[in-house]
Amino acid sequence: QLSNPQMEESSALRRAECRAKGGSPGFKVAILGAAGGIGQPLAMLMKMNPLVSVLHLYDVVNSPGVTADLSHMDTGAVVRGFLGQPQLESALTGMDLVIIPAGVPRKPGMTRDDLFNINAGIVKTLCEGVAKCCPNAIVNLISNPVNSTVPIAAEVFKKAGTYDPKRLLGVTTLDVVRANTFVAEVLGLDPREVNVPVVGGHAGVTILPLLSQVKPPCSFTPEETEYLTNRIQNGGTEVVEAKAGAGSATLSMAYAAVKFADACLRGLRGDAGIVECAFVASQVTELPFFATKVRLGRCGAEEVFQLGPLNEYERVGLEKAKKELAGSIQKGVAFINK
Ligand code: NAI
Repeated sequence: QLSNPQMEESSALRRAECRAKGGSPGFKVAILGAAGGIGQPLAMLMKMNPLVSVLHLYDVVNSPGVTADLSHMDTGAVVRGFLGQPQLESALTGMDLVIIPAGVPRKPGMTRDDLFNINAGIVKTLCEGVAKCCPNAIVNLISNPVNSTVPIAAEVFKKAGTYDPKRLLGVTTLDVVRANTFVAEVLGLDPREVNVPVVGGHAGVTILPLLSQVKPPCSFTPEETEYLTNRIQNGGTEVVEAKAGAGSATLSMAYAAVKFADACLRGLRGDAGIVECAFVASQVTELPFFATKVRLGRCGAEEVFQLGPLNEYERVGLEKAKKELAGSIQKGVAFINK
């Protein structure tokens, strides 16, 4: 906790107002699970983001230390720490964006679904807090299994009467980041110039890279397509195995989470043409949730784009993805309505 929260509050407000006058508002962002492997680098990168005026760091352990540490960085955002359930409501009140990387990560041999039993309850509790304290905030959900935690969050918000599908986004940016990197490697390009749409969901075969829609336009041999699709689908497992029991992707995930959060904030600010992939409520397929490109605006995911033309390989992949996704979505919904 900061030594003089009232003084910090008024100075944060002054700064926010000052930015607003200059046409660039500062947003209030909360990270739930901020002391974790993803949470810490994510908090640091958000502290460096000029669109953030206030940064709330909530966790059930260690958030005071992370907060004290980051609060010494000479960047604009004011950082405040919140520890444990009794402080959840204070952490959430007034937030514009809530990023949730709380929960346990995978160990070697585990699927993301193996995390369900622990993380489902964590996400439920945190989303009940969001519904009560900042029902209009945009929510970026990172906790796995995303294919189930997003439906869980939706059911919690429905029960609370606050559900707005546009404001609930499952973060699949790491799949896109990995796809851009691996495709750039194969093509011999700078990864910053490559854009690969990744649709479906965020686990195994539900991660469906659309290699036929890569920008800049290019083509792949069947072997390259097979190699890239497998590597993108198993990128998370590659990291889990390399870390050998010490967790899953944290640094690349924090990078991806900030890329996505920054896009959400630019959308909130009113910037035009902000498009990212995310796992959202969707009518693109017969499933109630699906990851595709979405346009981010003042209300969140204001437009959900269609899949576009798929080749035969992708059509087969889509059917596999939908089959697994249907079960994961149903499992999430059933967890709340049991
Ligand atoms: P971690 O174990 O290092 O950190 C999790 C943090 O959550 C810990 O600090 C813990 O104290 C906190 N936490 C636990 N229960 C909480 C509660 N009730 N309220 C608030 N905080 C709570 O795990 P890591 O590596 O940061 O991963 C977090 C989650 O992100 C995992 O579920 C992991 O599977 C997921 N993940 C998602 C990715 C994606 O692409 N969407 C990629 C990588 C990981």
